[in-house]
Amino acid sequence: MQISTKFSEIEESGCIAIMPTRMIPNMHDDVRESLLNQPRSLSPKYFYDERGSELFDQICSTPEYYPTRTENALLEKYATDIINKTKPEQILELGSGYSVKTRRLFDACQNISHNCSYAPFDVCEEALVESAKKLAKEYQWLNLKPLLGDYNAGLGNLPAANGSHLYVFLGSTIGNFERHEATAFIQELYKVMRVGDHFLIGVDRVKENDVLHAAYNDAQGITAEFNLNVLHVLNRELHANFDIDEFTHSATFNTDEERIEMRLISNSAQKVQLNKLNESIHFEEGEHIVTEISQKYTHSGIEEMLTAANFSITYHYEDEDSYFSLVLASK
Ligand code: SAH
Ligand code: AVI
Repeated sequence: MQISTKFSEIEESGCIAIMPTRMIPNMHDDVRESLLNQPRSLSPKYFYDERGSELFDQICSTPEYYPTRTENALLEKYATDIINKTKPEQILELGSGYSVKTRRLFDACQNISHNCSYAPFDVCEEALVESAKKLAKEYQWLNLKPLLGDYNAGLGNLPAANGSHLYVFLGSTIGNFERHEATAFIQELYKVMRVGDHFLIGVDRVKENDVLHAAYNDAQGITAEFNLNVLHVLNRELHANFDIDEFTHSATFNTDEERIEMRLISNSAQKVQLNKLNESIHFEEGEHIVTEISQKYTHSGIEEMLTAANFSITYHYEDEDSYFSLVLASK
């Protein structure tokens, strides 16, 4: 750590650490609460260590995982329209990962000679550092401000620019929140936005079960590896002794809830030590941990979520199969 100010600190990596605006449990307390009690679960943010971010990136290139290519195509088609409508001084992206699709917005800025700054905000420092290095070379005019932090800890300390902002939340990461949490999160974002700012959100749509099932059960097994990787994270961070081979990836579409539910299922009756927590867990054969939900939305469901947070919808873009929505909204 080098510089310390009230709202942020600059890390050695060059990322700006965003301070929480509310207390959230640390990993020890969080895991104690969610994994030691029934129903067992884990927050999806623990997927994204360096390896997890790489695996997610690989998922995006599998033939089955349609959301990335569909959203990218929408951005290719409409990015110039979006930049013309918003003319942002700063683009701030929540859960930016490797900022792959965001490049379509930078390309559009370039096309119309519009300069701006870009603040990618993510919990994975390695992804932020690697993508900032590449972006600095590819878009030399872009003023980069990588932000490291947890968006569940509040958005009140995000840096503001003088002019207007375009807040971006791509990839249907909103789907990894429960419906009520998603609405609360969008309401919180609305509060930190200023009048005239815009919000661009990518949301995956409800569709045929087989398309959804295949997207989370790719033939190469990358999604399975991504899911199981969270056990490596727990082994490393909590000195746990999960035997990765003793768990199986599961992802099924819950038609009533309209969401993919991803689980890790114990292959046998087994005991796992969590040494840093001084705890152990006994798993029965077939017992599961819920590791992620991926909520899918209808066209009207997305608009209801945004209008419930007071947003005005500027434009609702979608592909011809209605597989994915990209919605531009404003305050
Ligand atoms: N936006 C990219 C990446 C999506 S993957 C895309 O559309 O392809 C989800 C991203 O959100 C990951 O990069 C992960 O590290 C980040 N993330 C998950 N939980 C987070 C949290 N609580 N706070 C900040 N970032 C988070
Ligand atoms: C980041 N998030 C939107 C992805 C999703 O589709 O829910 C994460 C993912 N999980 C399995 N595959 C992809």
